[in-house]
Amino acid sequence: MNIILLGPPGAGKGTQAQRLVERFGMRQLSTGDMLRAAVKAQTAVGLQAKAVMERGELVSDEIVSALIGEELDAMGPSVGAIFDGYPRTAAQAESLDGILAARGRQLDHVIELGVDEDALVERITGRYTCATCGKGYHDTFEQPKVAGVCDKCGGTEFKRRPDDNEATVRTRMAEYRAKTAPILPLYEARDLVKQIDGMAPMDDVTGKIAAIIKG
Ligand code: AP5
Repeated sequence: MNIILLGPPGAGKGTQAQRLVERFGMRQLSTGDMLRAAVKAQTAVGLQAKAVMERGELVSDEIVSALIGEELDAMGPSVGAIFDGYPRTAAQAESLDGILAARGRQLDHVIELGVDEDALVERITGRYTCATCGKGYHDTFEQPKVAGVCDKCGGTEFKRRPDDNEATVRTRMAEYRAKTAPILPLYEARDLVKQIDGMAPMDDVTGKIAAIIKG
């Protein structure tokens, strides 16, 4: 099973991908997470990507497609893939077809999370993650059960992304509208798109995606 989660910044792609990993043993392939790891490790890719990400613009198609190919090779052929934040341009969509075909995989579903953009700014500026295990939280919508202690690993350090400020979020949304939304018709023409209300409670969204995966 290979699925794409598509939606603007803050639509819930990462949240849902983490839940599907736990439920179905699939692997989350988040180009955002891969790029942030590269920035942290100060690799050549990270040095190129850092300023672009801080502005909220898109990193080059070649870089992200290469990262996806490497990650798929590392995870082996029998594990299902959840593409989170990739593809984001028509060129990336075309690359993904070639990357999957070369590995004997095919795309099963493109799940579009429909959301109200005004609500997304609140979602994004309020979110943070455990610095140890990466579990996501939100100031209003999802707090740890014990204040200051991660539910998953017991960690007590939390962090926020440098691109989660309102100005950068607006640029990221504009990039989504201009470059990512136009790839949806390509997948609609192949009858791959399923639309889900991303404004529904998180558990409902997970249930709907799970139903699609189970067929
Ligand atoms: P990336 O890391 O992919 O960020 P993004 O697409 O902007 O998406 P986000 O991670 O912000 O949102 P999300 O949809 O995962 O929402 P989340 O689940 O966290 O990319 C960052 C940057 O890297 C890009 O700007 C670009 O520069 C670069 N990049 C990455 N991929 C690239 C590519 N392919 N090509 C070129 N450049 C690339 O949810 C948000 C919050 O809302 C959370 O706090 C969550 O708890 C809450 N929430 C989620 N669902 C719900 C719900 N149903 N109800 C209430 N709250 C909810």
